[in-house]
Amino acid sequence: MTDRCDLLITDIGELVPVAPPAGGAGPWRGELDDLPAIPAAAVAVTDGRIVALGPEAEVAAAFAPDETASAGGRVVLPGFVDPHTHLPWAGSREREFEQRLAGHTYAQIAQAGGGIRATTRAVRQASLDELVAAALPRLARMLAHGTTTAEAKSGYGLALEPERRQLQAIARLGELQPIDLIATNLAAHEIPDERRDDRAGWVRELCDTILPELRGDAEFCDVFCEDHVFTVEESRAILGRARELGYGVKLHADELVPTGGAELAVELGAVSADHLACTGPGGIEALAASETVAVLLPGTSFYLRKQDHAPARAMLAAGVAVALATDLNPGSSLTESVPMILTLACLQLGMTPAEAIVAATRNAACAVGRGHDRGSLEPGKLADLVVWDAPSWRYVPTHFGVSLVHAVFKGGREVYRRGGRE
Ligand code: NIG
Ligand code: FE
Repeated sequence: MTDRCDLLITDIGELVPVAPPAGGAGPWRGELDDLPAIPAAAVAVTDGRIVALGPEAEVAAAFAPDETASAGGRVVLPGFVDPHTHLPWAGSREREFEQRLAGHTYAQIAQAGGGIRATTRAVRQASLDELVAAALPRLARMLAHGTTTAEAKSGYGLALEPERRQLQAIARLGELQPIDLIATNLAAHEIPDERRDDRAGWVRELCDTILPELRGDAEFCDVFCEDHVFTVEESRAILGRARELGYGVKLHADELVPTGGAELAVELGAVSADHLACTGPGGIEALAASETVAVLLPGTSFYLRKQDHAPARAMLAAGVAVALATDLNPGSSLTESVPMILTLACLQLGMTPAEAIVAATRNAACAVGRGHDRGSLEPGKLADLVVWDAPSWRYVPTHFGVSLVHAVFKGGREVYRRGGRE
């Protein structure tokens, strides 16, 4: 007796579901040096979702597919979820790269009017169509590196209308290409140039106008809580208001100096606390006892030449749910590549390949509230999966600066194949 299915993906050399032993929607916690893998496997898909997976002999006997696709003996992993990007921007900041090489810090450049404020000037000049056109090639590169879902923040408008335009660009980009996009309102990314003498007024405008006006355009709200940007008190006020309005909350916390941002994220019930390069033992303890996912961004500490790396090993040992993201943006982490982030997570944060892959799939899905339907390969979840030209899953983080992605399936549809169809 066989069931019909839309698609059967066969000849998978090694299938790594990244499913927690007990199932469910929550993140993996704790240290990990291995991942269960199924050799000679197949995946059956119907209506964009996985209906069965396991040894090919069993799955192929149980399903009569409308279509088949061979993985050619390759490795298959869940599609990456990139839970922290600043995707829709205009302009570029290559001169700041040179300034940093000459010894200027990110904070010094920002205080002199560069950094986020420089990109804000470019975004305010850009039309919706220009923002969309600038972001499409970034999304194509993300897909070619195995990303199937990404969070995308506004935060370079710093006033109602340009913030709205960035969020509209995210919505349109979600319709124009295969990667699912989850929008975050990050209007509280900086103090705009014209409000430098009126911080309190800017915080009021965020709470009274910008957050309520843009509620329908973003699922999450985020704040850059940092020395010289928003204080812990200001961040608490903004995100408290965001919560009242029904946004899920996120926080850029402890990136450049320790501020107590991790503790604040936990206090607010944030879905994630991001960066955490300078988080101390108190923050780790608070995160471990919470549902807040720690999103680590090793691309940023690498790109800013920081010696402070997020204390990933202490977090994993304490039971914090750890995720990884690119932080894709024009100034502090200019990369679309999650595989590059895996390599940095292993080499600079001391994570194992198993921990890094869990952090970029299952736990990353939890960091954007999507643990129930993606981030792992299980019956009922989306058939978002990536076919790798690699001898084993362990190989993926070892080969850096290139994409080893052979093909990407999004909702059971092949949306990318290296060099086109064979
Ligand atoms: O996550 N930290 C704040 N925001 C970004 C940087 C954005 C920029 O420099 O344009 C980040 O690193
Ligand atoms: Fe960021």
